[in-house]
Amino acid sequence: MPEYALRLRRYDPQSGQGAYWEQFTVELDGHRSVLDAILKQRAERDGTIGIRCSCRSAICGSCGVRINDKPGLACHTHLDRAAQAGREGSQVIVVEPMGNMPVIKDLIVDMDAVHWKKIQRVTPWLINKQPIPEREYVVPKESMLDITQSMACIQCGACVSDCLSLEVDPLFIGPAQLAKAYRFVGDPRDAQHEQRLRELAEDPHGIYDCTHCWACIDACPKGVAPMSQIMRLRRLAGSDHQIEDANNGHRHELAFTNNIARNGLLAEADVLPDSYGGKLHPRAIGVLLASLPVILRALVRRKVTLRSALLHPHRGRFKDLSGLFDQIERRAERRELNLYITGYDSAEPAQVAGNGPAMVATGASPTRGAADEGEGR
Ligand code: SF4
Ligand code: SF4
Ligand code: FES
Repeated sequence: MPEYALRLRRYDPQSGQGAYWEQFTVELDGHRSVLDAILKQRAERDGTIGIRCSCRSAICGSCGVRINDKPGLACHTHLDRAAQAGREGSQVIVVEPMGNMPVIKDLIVDMDAVHWKKIQRVTPWLINKQPIPEREYVVPKESMLDITQSMACIQCGACVSDCLSLEVDPLFIGPAQLAKAYRFVGDPRDAQHEQRLRELAEDPHGIYDCTHCWACIDACPKGVAPMSQIMRLRRLAGSDHQIEDANNGHRHELAFTNNIARNGLLAEADVLPDSYGGKLHPRAIGVLLASLPVILRALVRRKVTLRSALLHPHRGRFKDLSGLFDQIERRAERRELNLYITGYDSAEPAQVAGNGPAMVATGASPTRGAADEGEGR
């Protein structure tokens, strides 16, 4: 029987001591999970180890931890794979509590204080359209397929653990929470799409607070791709409902994409004024003046030079890129793809009733690639 070395981060607030590391060895088959190893140690040698778990089948979302610096489910991580991914080839499996949430004890974090509290901010239930039908609502299949990805969330908190925006702005609503918001915004039975979108767009810690770092997509054990759901919310709010948010998020996105379409490569000096309506727009003048210290610091630290800022020597060299924008904008309808709706026809696809050309249900495995396809404009 192979042996595996586990290093746990221990912390007991009642002891009055700070956190510390403890290492032990367990004998188990490599296909057994990190959770199995921790539970074995707890049952046989140290009953004080704190870890939360229930289903042991990657369904309940209770056993979220960080393993070798990555968030995930302890019950869904094989010992042999975890050992291979040990820090600097050490084969030691390092397990610690999830990030961005206070630790209660050892590997148990306070999900109520962050995760569940923030879920409440997105009104996580359906608000019925009136009048309520006498029998069931009839919902188009393609609508339900569209939200299936966000419905796959098991609320494990892995994405919350590693969200970079949450790290710098603890008030950010959060990835799992915004994926949950899309679950209702995308549901045709919900009566408050526009109001939900407006609140999420106007909230300074809402949909425009995400920095597209991809950490939540990498972290999610269920392929929910929270960042893709956030981008969908943005497209619905900005492009479909023309919500001009007070955070300037939608105008900033437009300034960004128009800038690349125009120049082929981002002319960074134009992004800020364009986000506020152009250099001479009254809205832009105040912002530009307020940004002068940052601009000066960037010049002093040579992050930008006057020549590159004013002349943008790359302008026009990547003009061909603008063809991509034309190609996407000529499409008759926007394609919102996810794990279950991909842009590729499989050999014998099960066609979904409906008229969308991309509505092809496939047996696609939960890969990042399929989820990424949803990032079209
Ligand atoms: S992509 Fe956005 S929501 Fe996801 S982890 Fe990064 S900042 Fe957070
Ligand atoms: S979106 Fe994924 S990582 Fe985040 S809570 Fe849901 S299942 Fe867990
Ligand atoms: S114990 Fe339920 S998801 Fe791991």
